[in-house]
Amino acid sequence: MEISLKKVSSGYEDLILKNIDINIKTGSWNFIIGETGSGKSTLLQTIGVLLKNKKGDIFWRNKNLSTKNYLKEYRESYGYMFQYTEKQFFNNTIKEEIIYSLVKRKASSEEIEKKLDEVLNLLNISRSILNKSPHELSGGQKRFVAFASVLITSPQILLLDEPTAGLDIENKKIFFALLNKLKKEGVTIIQISHLLEDVLEYGDYVIALEKGQIIAEGIPLEVLKNSDLDFINFCKIMNSFGVSTENIRNIDELLERVR
Ligand SMILES: Nc1ncnc2c1ncn2[C@@H]1O[C@H](COP(=O)(O)OP(=O)(O)OP(=O)(O)O)[C@@H](O)[C@H]1O
Ligand SMILES: [Mg+2]
Repeated sequence: MEISLKKVSSGYEDLILKNIDINIKTGSWNFIIGETGSGKSTLLQTIGVLLKNKKGDIFWRNKNLSTKNYLKEYRESYGYMFQYTEKQFFNNTIKEEIIYSLVKRKASSEEIEKKLDEVLNLLNISRSILNKSPHELSGGQKRFVAFASVLITSPQILLLDEPTAGLDIENKKIFFALLNKLKKEGVTIIQISHLLEDVLEYGDYVIALEKGQIIAEGIPLEVLKNSDLDFINFCKIMNSFGVSTENIRNIDELLERVR
């Protein structure tokens, strides 16, 4: 397993997530779904060990992350894209923003230039914008710059909080093609999404949350077809995808609608 959570409760002043057990396989593409406020972002931050208020244990490659040195190594192994990209920017120029993590890790200037070239090519970002302020960019461009700043360290794990929100169809295609390529290279992906078609097309595994608890998980199509899942909960998940369940009486009818 790449990452495991064992009986984890976490959150802010109040604990939002309750008693969560999760296993994430190395090289798998995982989606977290659920209604607004169900705890998706809280769960992703918990997986990144970014929240102070936490009970239970988190393991990376079977070792407990409560060891400080190991935690540092773990944090350097993943790239995190936050839900609100603009909050992530704090440098004056796009270039500084993209190379920030490498500078922090004291990479040589040759390595930085080499990696910068690589991510600019991967994401089709023009060098001509590098000296602009990140705040001058459109929403879609901001996402790409944020993604470039994450990819520049070649992370083995990607934690992505609604990374395609606000992207147009063309950019979304570029984004998913790139994620697909990274997955083939062995990168583990954990992504929050509201779109059923994306979960069905790319997901190896899906985790559905409601009020801070897991209400369903598994291979996406099997979760959809799982007759043990009570229909009301099932409809809630669908609604969280933005799929209307108003005139649907059973799961087969729903699958018809999704296709
Ligand atoms: N920084 C914070 N301090 C206190 N409570 C918070 C904080 N962030 C989120 N919460 C609360 O935690 C709960 C879960 O929020 P979270 O952001 O994880 O939901 P979400 O599923 O990501 O929602 P969305 O789809 O709107 O992004 C909500 O009740 C929210 O009000
Ligand atoms: Mg969220």
